Amino acid sequence: MDFGIAGRWAVVCASSQGLGRGCAEALAAQGVNLVVNARDEARLAATAQELREAAPGIEVREVAGDVSQPDVRERLLGAAPAVDILVNNAGGPPTGDFREWDEAEWTDALGRNMLAPIELIKATADGMADRGFGRIVNITSSAVKAPIAALGLSNGARSGLTGFVAGIARQPQLAGRNVTINNLLPGRFDTARIAATLEPEAEASGRSLEEVRAEYAAGIPAGRFGTPEEFGAACAFLCSGQAGYITGQNLLIDGGAYPGTF
Ligand SMILES: NC(=O)c1ccc[n+]([C@@H]2O[C@H](COP(=O)([O-])OP(=O)(O)OC[C@H]3O[C@@H](n4cnc5c(N)ncnc54)[C@H](OP(=O)(O)O)[C@@H]3O)[C@@H](O)[C@H]2O)c1
Repeated sequence: MDFGIAGRWAVVCASSQGLGRGCAEALAAQGVNLVVNARDEARLAATAQELREAAPGIEVREVAGDVSQPDVRERLLGAAPAVDILVNNAGGPPTGDFREWDEAEWTDALGRNMLAPIELIKATADGMADRGFGRIVNITSSAVKAPIAALGLSNGARSGLTGFVAGIARQPQLAGRNVTINNLLPGRFDTARIAATLEPEAEASGRSLEEVRAEYAAGIPAGRFGTPEEFGAACAFLCSGQAGYITGQNLLIDGGAYPGTF
């Protein structure tokens, strides 16, 4: 299916690997020009080169740096002639016990997973509305719908972003001018992040990471973790011309793990 977005420009935050990279690849396959980002410059450069080789017709620009930093966000936005598509993403906060988190840890989590997306939305949404096209996708977590106790920093920061998005996505100045804002909620996906999240559990229980992974996979109705490619495909659809009537939604992609009707 042609998504009708070839030639548009997308800023895809935190996209040198994992889910962000899956989104960048799927958008590139639709002919979308990309600004990609991550902190590790070498890995980002390698990813950008692979994206160029996979989709020779598009332009790929790199901006290295932490998306929670205002100067990095400024460079990200400045790298595209106009931002038509924004994919908000950043690494997730560490797991732990809420009794151990101090204000600095909360400030970090809120900066990366709530305030950075809000600032980028603020900087791009009205321009998108003026041009009559805009797609914003925030990568959040299934933990917004079904909180995970050890991920309290994530549950809190992402729920704040979700509440913010629910309000602004429905503003006629945006929804009425073909600007949509949606959240994608990953369940368990096969990325470096999931391995890092499961490692402490493997260590604590004296099992291998593979055993713990297999146990989690068995508990998902699909019987497996998702792939960044599957995640990216959903993102690209939300960014398509065809998805213009979908806004303010939270799309759970979890292989059926969440047991509720809604
Ligand atoms: N994978 C899952 O199953 C799952 C489930 C629920 C939620 N999530 C959430 O989805 C998001 C993506 O997860 P993932 O699994 O794709 O993680 P990942 O495989 O670890 O990839 C994270 C990517 O983000 C970049 N990054 C991290 N922090 C950044 C920052 N502050 N500024 C700019 N770039 C940054 C990383 O590169 P650098 O390290 O070089 O910066 C890397 O490219 C995370 O917030 C995660 O918590 C993932």
